[in-house]
Amino acid sequence: MGIGKACRVITFGLAATALSMIPAYVWAADKPIPQFVQKNGKHTLMVDGAPFVILGGQANNSSNYPDTLAKVWPAIKDVNANTLVIPVAWEQIEPTEGKFDFSFVDTLVKEARANNVRLSILWFGTWKNTGPSYTPSWVKLDNKRFPRLTNKDGSLSYALSPHYKATLDADKKAYVALMNHIKAIDTAERTVVLMQVENEVGVYGTERDYSAVANKLFAQPVPPALIKQMGDRALKKSGTWSEVFGKHADEYFHAWHMAAFCNEVAAAGKSAYPLPAYMNAALKDPLNPEQPAGSYASGGPTYNVIDVYKVAAPQIDFLAPDLYSPGSQSYEATLKWYKRPDNALYVAESGNKPTYARFIFSVLGQQGIGFDPFGFDYTGYSNYPLGTTETDRKIVEPFAPLYKLFGDMNRVWAKLSFEGQVWGVSEPDDHSAQTLDFGSKWNAKVTYRQWQFGLPEWDKDNKNGFPEGSDVPSGGIAVAKLSDNEFLVAGHNARISFGAGPANKDKGMLLDRVEEGHYDADGKWVMQRVWNGDQTDYGLNFKDQPRLLKVRLGTYEK
Ligand code: DGJ
Repeated sequence: MGIGKACRVITFGLAATALSMIPAYVWAADKPIPQFVQKNGKHTLMVDGAPFVILGGQANNSSNYPDTLAKVWPAIKDVNANTLVIPVAWEQIEPTEGKFDFSFVDTLVKEARANNVRLSILWFGTWKNTGPSYTPSWVKLDNKRFPRLTNKDGSLSYALSPHYKATLDADKKAYVALMNHIKAIDTAERTVVLMQVENEVGVYGTERDYSAVANKLFAQPVPPALIKQMGDRALKKSGTWSEVFGKHADEYFHAWHMAAFCNEVAAAGKSAYPLPAYMNAALKDPLNPEQPAGSYASGGPTYNVIDVYKVAAPQIDFLAPDLYSPGSQSYEATLKWYKRPDNALYVAESGNKPTYARFIFSVLGQQGIGFDPFGFDYTGYSNYPLGTTETDRKIVEPFAPLYKLFGDMNRVWAKLSFEGQVWGVSEPDDHSAQTLDFGSKWNAKVTYRQWQFGLPEWDKDNKNGFPEGSDVPSGGIAVAKLSDNEFLVAGHNARISFGAGPANKDKGMLLDRVEEGHYDADGKWVMQRVWNGDQTDYGLNFKDQPRLLKVRLGTYEK
């Protein structure tokens, strides 16, 4: 028994006054603060001292009021999410300067505990979708004290500039107050596991601030650490922003200052209460590198400026895409940009249309630490055409079984992902086959639109040739390595056929044993049945009820 547990047992009999004299670190010793860990190019979020995958549900923007929560919790429960992701807005906690109101935060944390879910809190501060809509009126309306950016033609932008200390100090003060409050109410239970600093920062319509103040900064030398990080993208080893970065100078400059501002907010918050902190990105088209800054949110953490953020914002633990790309090619391309040895893959937002559900396999299979579709509540709001038109239980139905699949083995999967090897694919829009390479001994082919038995060409009677409904992509496979010859396979609407890798090429390959089962609450495998015969002769076939298999492979001499 650790010291923390012993203290808990001993203190049960103490009076309240005596309890309050016990230092918080002793009281909370068996619940360490959530921590973001990066090791050997892999990442995890440690919650209660062990790796954890966020299976999130993000509420709609205006669901952040006590009464509305009653329409949020049922959706979070129905989808089997382990984390509610929800805004706390500057306007709501500091409506009058210096006077803080944390009543919503109190209700939120209390109800999250009652609903047995964790919280990821979105700080809607100086920037929300780049604009100042969530700042309090005393900020929004005082452009003298909190100046807006100046566009290139001299007109004023809708967005607040990152170059003014008054704005930074005011935002920072409110954020620190929030973090202090979370510390005060949550040190023992650690219900809040993650903070998002601001929301979709950057600016549309201009690459940067062209005010006199900004222009003066723009004429200064570029920080050497940034030049080093940018490698070939720096045209010179020293010089002003224009000299070093040429046509990208305006955007890189703006990214640098946005990142530095947010870094300072995050750092101040962490010195109050060091929860992991990330930022989300409104995306630049991953398939069109020539898309001009300003037509997307210039200066936000788009894929082309991740390196700028890595230098300017070391207190931001990771940068995360908001994924509403309709096509699988574009969705997967964005995942590839954000999965880096120095950046954890976390999908901060994703559309909630049914077709987005399958991407959980790509995200978690690429060592993702969380997946958080947007618009999971029953407030009657739909952000169609980005998301679904549904506003009731139908919103969550395509996601719920997949969350259950990964939720039931959350800790097991999170550990395998952080310490071992995982793979994952989602069905492409064109349903084409994919190959998984497990190293020298094994590989696998993943195919879609299959029957559970035989080959598609045997189905002469069916003019369509494919199972009904399979024209809408919904499949995916995620695999974790358990040992040299053993794999955990999670699947939905897909067929996986294992094959021999180069090291086994002269041997015959066989499925030694395929167990269907699940992990219990202690992370112990529970076998339910063995798949064999028709169930394995034509690959391992997953239909619309997701399943978990433990597959042991073997060889025979030929
Ligand atoms: C991305 C933003 O981050 C969300 O808050 C929301 O506005 C969606 N876009 C659109 O529903």
